[in-house]
Amino acid sequence: MFLVLLLFISARIAYGFNDFPSLTTANATMDYTVLLSIVTCDETWRLFKIAQKEHLVHLAITDSDCPRLPENGGISIPMMQPGEELPQILLDLRMSKALNWKKINVLHDQILGKDTISRILMVFSREFEKNLELASRSVFAIQYKETDWARRQQLVNILSGFDVDQLGNCFLVFTTADMVAVIMEVARSLKMVNTSSQWLYVINDASERDVNITSFSELLEEGENIAFLYNITNKNKTCSINLDCYGKEIIRALAITLDNAYVKEIELYEQVTDEEFEIVRLTKAERRREIIENMIKELSLERTIYGGSCGQCLSWKITATVTWGTSFISENETIGQLIDSGFWSPGIGLNMNDVIFPHVQHGFRGKKLPMVSYHNPPWQIVSHTESGEVQYTGLIFNIIKHLSVKLNFTYTVVTTTNARDTKIANHTRHVKMLQKTIDKVSASITNNVPDALIELVRTKKVLMAACVYTISEYRKTLVNFTIPVSIQTYSLLASRPRQLSRALLFMSPYTKETWACLSAAIIIMGPILYLVHKFSPCHMNVHVASGLNSPWKCTWYVYGALLQQGGMMLPSADSARLLVGTWWLFVMVVIATYSGNLVAFLTFPRMDDSITSVDDLLLRDGQVTWGFPNGSFLENYLRDANEVKYSRLLAGAERHNSSEDQDIIRRVRTGTHILIDWRSSLRFLMKRELLSTGGCDYSLSSEEFMDEPIAMIVPQGSPYLSLINKEIKRMHETGLIHKWTTDWMPVKDKCWGGPGINQEANNHKVNMSDMQGIFFVLIIGVILAVTMLTCEFCWYKRKVASERKLIRPFVP
Ligand SMILES: *[C@@H]1O[C@H](CO)[C@@H](O)[C@H](O)[C@H]1NC(C)=O
Ligand SMILES: *[C@@H]1O[C@H](CO)[C@@H](O)[C@H](O)[C@H]1NC(C)=O
Ligand SMILES: *[C@@H]1O[C@H](CO)[C@@H](O)[C@H](O)[C@H]1NC(C)=O
Ligand SMILES: *[C@@H]1O[C@H](CO)[C@@H](O)[C@H](O)[C@H]1NC(C)=O
Ligand SMILES: *[C@@H]1O[C@H](CO)[C@@H](O)[C@H](O)[C@H]1NC(C)=O
Ligand SMILES: *[C@@H]1O[C@H](CO)[C@@H](O)[C@H](O)[C@H]1NC(C)=O
Ligand SMILES: *[C@@H]1O[C@H](CO)[C@@H](O)[C@H](O)[C@H]1NC(C)=O
Ligand SMILES: *[C@@H]1O[C@H](CO)[C@@H](O)[C@H](O)[C@H]1NC(C)=O
Ligand SMILES: *[C@@H]1O[C@H](CO)[C@@H](O)[C@H](O)[C@H]1NC(C)=O
Ligand SMILES: *[C@@H]1O[C@H](CO)[C@@H](O)[C@H](O)[C@H]1NC(C)=O
Ligand SMILES: *[C@@H]1O[C@H](CO)[C@@H](O)[C@H](O)[C@H]1NC(C)=O
Repeated sequence: MFLVLLLFISARIAYGFNDFPSLTTANATMDYTVLLSIVTCDETWRLFKIAQKEHLVHLAITDSDCPRLPENGGISIPMMQPGEELPQILLDLRMSKALNWKKINVLHDQILGKDTISRILMVFSREFEKNLELASRSVFAIQYKETDWARRQQLVNILSGFDVDQLGNCFLVFTTADMVAVIMEVARSLKMVNTSSQWLYVINDASERDVNITSFSELLEEGENIAFLYNITNKNKTCSINLDCYGKEIIRALAITLDNAYVKEIELYEQVTDEEFEIVRLTKAERRREIIENMIKELSLERTIYGGSCGQCLSWKITATVTWGTSFISENETIGQLIDSGFWSPGIGLNMNDVIFPHVQHGFRGKKLPMVSYHNPPWQIVSHTESGEVQYTGLIFNIIKHLSVKLNFTYTVVTTTNARDTKIANHTRHVKMLQKTIDKVSASITNNVPDALIELVRTKKVLMAACVYTISEYRKTLVNFTIPVSIQTYSLLASRPRQLSRALLFMSPYTKETWACLSAAIIIMGPILYLVHKFSPCHMNVHVASGLNSPWKCTWYVYGALLQQGGMMLPSADSARLLVGTWWLFVMVVIATYSGNLVAFLTFPRMDDSITSVDDLLLRDGQVTWGFPNGSFLENYLRDANEVKYSRLLAGAERHNSSEDQDIIRRVRTGTHILIDWRSSLRFLMKRELLSTGGCDYSLSSEEFMDEPIAMIVPQGSPYLSLINKEIKRMHETGLIHKWTTDWMPVKDKCWGGPGINQEANNHKVNMSDMQGIFFVLIIGVILAVTMLTCEFCWYKRKVASERKLIRPFVP
């Protein structure tokens, strides 16, 4: 049933037939099952395409540097002499995508022959498959130098001019074991080794010199991606690598496999009828899969039993290193741990059990890393759950959680405490989270973090501090800051401006000057009217108008006209009428403006001037005091600022102790004190006051001045800073941090509007406080009238008395 083996042997391999027929001319659809070819690489792949179409099992022995046939289509064995296997190993790495670098920098020494180098470069530049991207490569040769110093110098020269942006940061280094340490050191000193760079060291002389790879683990440092590829061939054995051996090996395996398959198929055939057999028998593709599977098993069995008969002795190993996060766990352990990630031998090719660069693919590989934090709401909140577990929440822990997913780590938190925060947590355990947050937020306290926390970060005991800290130049000498998580601005908190008294509301439509002119106009118009009236010739003849015959009466007349209560009489002369007419016109305008304006003043209450900026505040110097929390970063800033207003602000400011919070708030409410703090903290304070008193007694200035950037901190020189920064930047860009910030900051409430905006502007009912003024005027009028009456009585009595004393001539 398995009849034909086609055997092609390339003439170029020079083992056999010169005139091999081309497979295309042979009728391949005949019942062939297996194709065994011994031809060059190109020819093998050409044959493979045909075999693939016909579902043939393709067994190939090819020359070196040939990509292996895919496992579902055949088995191929490249032939190579010991010492020439490197290009094939790299090719297998590339084909299996274990090494998928786009840009490759090759550093090599002279031990590797020119020929090998060009073959290796060929491996990376040839396009074998469409989905395998071309890799660009650059080559740097290292000369052999006698002294250590000369080697170093040469390496520095080569690597210092290196342009990472253009050439990428993937390095393939062919070197000897004793140079590895030197190269690592130089590269590190040139800052070419970091979390994003990848270094694969190919150690040529590992097998000859019995190099102990374990000793390299001591050279590794935190945050590096380094792997080793080295020769573990047993040099005591002599390997016979020739076609004979491979041919025998493959044919033996094939024979056993076919035999088994034949027996199985015969068994099946005997159990069923012919028709049924046609249905249940394996298709050609199924049979191919089965044969290949069984052959692989058979081959590996053979290889272990006959151990190394055919180049199995030639073997290489890939060792990956685990460095990320190892120094935090235990200080005495060496940083690097080596893990076997793969094995290579000519027959089976590459056998990977792990990736070459574990951290590039898997970040921290789920490692548990220590962090340090302290209670500082709303940034980081340390609390206890019902069951007594410690729970970490807050904006910073949102970020940390996201980071831990992105970088693949878990974390434990060490908490330190600020002196003022010792009685956290239990205090408000059952209260809702936001409420708790509000209770504890008092001021901008990221300027002071516990010393113990800084110490832990400084001594590199933790990956990072899960807290925010104000960035300042001095602190940068102790720790490194991430990019800012948030920028806080300062504002002024004042008491809400009060309404001005409305007792004199009826006066407010006109300014004082207008009132003065109006009174003057009345007083002057009386006499003028009198004069015009008196000297008018018409008036002489007509003997009426008793109301206008004294200046005093005229003044009353003018006043009455102003209040639209004109006397009955009209001057008889046209000149005086003209005057009165003009006066009426004047009155009309005055009254119209007055009543219109009065309505406006009734509707929109007038407010006290509010303090909305530093300039306003300084104008009120003497009337109000101001201050900010002791130890606030604001103080440093104001001291460094060159502007006069800021130095005045600093000079006049009080420093508040955190213990006197309540006192400060009380002073702010009475309007005598202005509190300067983070806008966000002040919002918390306003929210808290709203919840406790239910009123909006405070107003926040619209001016925001001075930016205070706050960020998380990592130990100095931490290799992970740029990784963390990249993630934080991404969180900013995707709006995650903004979302979390709004989650943790107080929500908008009715007190957010500026002064005067939320007044009851609509449908204002006129009340007594609006009208009291005019009532007072009425009362004053009555009192004046009564006084006048008294005066008139007195005056009348005196007049009567003096008349009695007078001896008057008798007139009959
Ligand atoms: C192969 O043989 C089959 C019959 O066995 C025939 O039909 C077919 O044409 C032949 N193909 C070629 C390329 O000769
Ligand atoms: C690997 O080691 C074997 C045995 O020492 C040696 O024959 C072979 O040339 C080595 N391979 C390379 C590429 O140096
Ligand atoms: C690693 O160092 C190179 C320069 O040597 C730099 O371009 C790259 O951004 C660094 N990457 C990280 C993650 O620090
Ligand atoms: C290799 O080196 C490590 C440490 O450097 C040592 O513990 C180990 O015993 C060495 N192995 C051999 C085979 O020398
Ligand atoms: C190779 O042979 C030498 C002596 O011939 C022996 O000392 C050494 O242990 C052997 N190495 C191995 C790996 O068998
Ligand atoms: C680390 O080594 C120091 C001395 O070198 C020792 O005092 C300390 O106990 C060791 N720590 C651990 C965790 O082994
Ligand atoms: C995280 O690390 C573990 C352990 O190495 C790994 O199995 C897992 O795939 C990694 N997760 C991600 C998302 O890389
Ligand atoms: C908080 O409560 C827990 C359990 O209720 C208790 O074990 C712990 O000591 C308390 N902590 C403080 C600071 O009171
Ligand atoms: C970390 O701090 C040191 C010392 O101030 C500084 O030289 C270094 O540039 C900082 N690292 C980063 C990534 O900013
Ligand atoms: C501010 O704090 C410092 C110590 O932190 C203290 O010495 C100083 O007295 C405080 N100032 C005021 C005004 O409370
Ligand atoms: C603030 O507290 C410090 C000590 O904590 C004290 O010396 C200082 O007098 C206090 N200042 C005020 C204004 O109470």
